[in-house]
Amino acid sequence: MKKIVILISGRGSNMQALLEAKLPCTIAAVISNRADATGLETAQKHGIATHVVAHRDYADRENFDAMLAKTIDAYQPDFVVLAGFMRILTATFVHHYHGKLINIHPSLLPAYAGMHTHARALQDGVKIHGCTVHFVTPDLDHGPIIIQAAVPVLANDTEQILSQRVLQEEHRVYPQAISWLCNEQISLNVHGKVEFQTHKQIGHALISPGLE
Ligand code: GRF
Repeated sequence: MKKIVILISGRGSNMQALLEAKLPCTIAAVISNRADATGLETAQKHGIATHVVAHRDYADRENFDAMLAKTIDAYQPDFVVLAGFMRILTATFVHHYHGKLINIHPSLLPAYAGMHTHARALQDGVKIHGCTVHFVTPDLDHGPIIIQAAVPVLANDTEQILSQRVLQEEHRVYPQAISWLCNEQISLNVHGKVEFQTHKQIGHALISPGLE
């Protein structure tokens, strides 16, 4: 069975969705860069080993990433899953986990890479927004896409309401992506593209606002 390590920085609701999803893998550990991340408690309640590698304890990104990698590698995971991990990782770290480092981002990438995705989507007046699970490459938020979920942006949405609608979908697509990876149904090929071994392409259009 494959093994994963999850990295968090805060509440860890995506981590929780992964813990509760009955994934075809072992969740070996949860690591946070913040001791006050509430997700650590959730992980402990699930009997998962937790570690804190506090970024503030390190002089620079290189030293922090080196200790992070050392903590992760003690578990020899097949995949490292970023679930609301709010640190930019060095290229050295990212290369070390080539094809094994996965992230979830709260927008339909490549739109709205970076921060404040929901506020920016509202500001632009887009009618469809969503989330993306992708392999991590040194190009921040631009790695090969595994799965996306789209939601409508509704007339009275606030940042809070929209983020909740997106988060609900994050909790559905992240377990799916990790399950595909652990069952070897998808992988990153030599050309840096996501390859589906067996893939039934099903889906329908999300039109927003809806047609009458
Ligand atoms: C999520 O919106 C995720 O997409 C982003 O950070 C947020 C983390 O939320 N990377 P949680 O800690 O998983 O609840």
